[in-house]
Order: sequence, then C-alpha cells, then structure tokens
Amino acid sequence: MPIQAINKSQTGNPGWRVRAFTGAMAVLAAAVSPVTTASAEDSARIEAGENVFSTNCAVCHGDQLVSTGQTFDLRRLKDSDRARFDNSVRNGKNQMPPWKGKLTDEEIDQVWHYIRANAYQK
Ligand code: HEC
Repeated sequence: MPIQAINKSQTGNPGWRVRAFTGAMAVLAAAVSPVTTASAEDSARIEAGENVFSTNCAVCHGDQLVSTGQTFDLRRLKDSDRARFDNSVRNGKNQMPPWKGKLTDEEIDQVWHYIRANAYQK
C-alpha cells in the first residue's frame, strides 16, 4: 500500500491514533517502571545474586545461604564486611577457590546484595 493511501485512511479514522497512543503508553510504563524505582532495581540485583549464588556457591555454602555448619555462614556478614567479602571471594581463602576471572565484578556485587538481603544483621 503506498504511503499516500495509508495517510488517507488515517485521516478518515482518527480513533486508531488514540488507541495506538494509549497502548504505546501502557507498554512504555510497563517497560520503564521496574528501573525507575530504587527498590525494584535492588530486587532485580538481589534476584540475579541468588542465581549466581545457587550456581557457584550453594554447593559449599548451602542452599539459600543455609549453611550446614561446615563452611562459613555467609549470613553472618555485616554491612561493614564488604571489603573482606570482595577480597575473599576474588582471591579465595583456604578451601575456597578464587572467583576472580570466573565471576564478573557485577556478579560478585549481585551476590553481595543477595547475602545482605538475607543477613542476620541488616
Ligand atoms: C568449594 C567450596 C566453596 C565454594 C564453591 C565457595 N566457597 Fe566460600 N568458603 C568456603 C570455605 C571452606 C570457606 C571458609 C574459609 C576459611 O576461613 O578457611 C569459605 C569462606 C567464604 C567467605 C568468608 C571469607 C572470610 O573472609 O572469612 C566468603 C565471603 C565466601 N566464602 C563467599 C563465597 C561466595 C560468594 C561463593 C560463590 C561465588 C563461594 N564462597 C563459594 C568454600 C567454598
């Protein structure tokens, strides 16, 4: 259909434009809202961290962070332990392998937020 023909049919029926606009706004609102609020951004990061944890850490640190008592209970980490966490995770500690080069900085950050969201001391 040539462009002129489309334009002609549009001018004959302005109603579609209103509907299309409303529909577009709804899609836009749905796409934008999760990242505009800080808490939604946090929960996305925590959720991503949960995935990184179950894939890489749960085997030793326990499902859902529930330690069997044989390894460090990650829920004990306090907010002030961030530097220690980064260092131990990147470089490893005794029986724990280093994760540097295996996990990205972003993934390590996501795991940190997942752990903090479930920590004993918030
Ligand atoms: C192969 C088993 C194993 C895996 C897999 C593992 N860890 Fe560990 N992790 C350990 C052990 C064992 C310790 C206790 C180390 C020690 O203090 O001797 C530990 C300790 C830690 C500590 C505390 C270190 C400190 O400063 O005392 C952190 C934080 C940690 N692990 C995070 C993680 C994260 C995050 C992952 C996943 C990316 C992970 N671990 C995967 C075995 C593991």
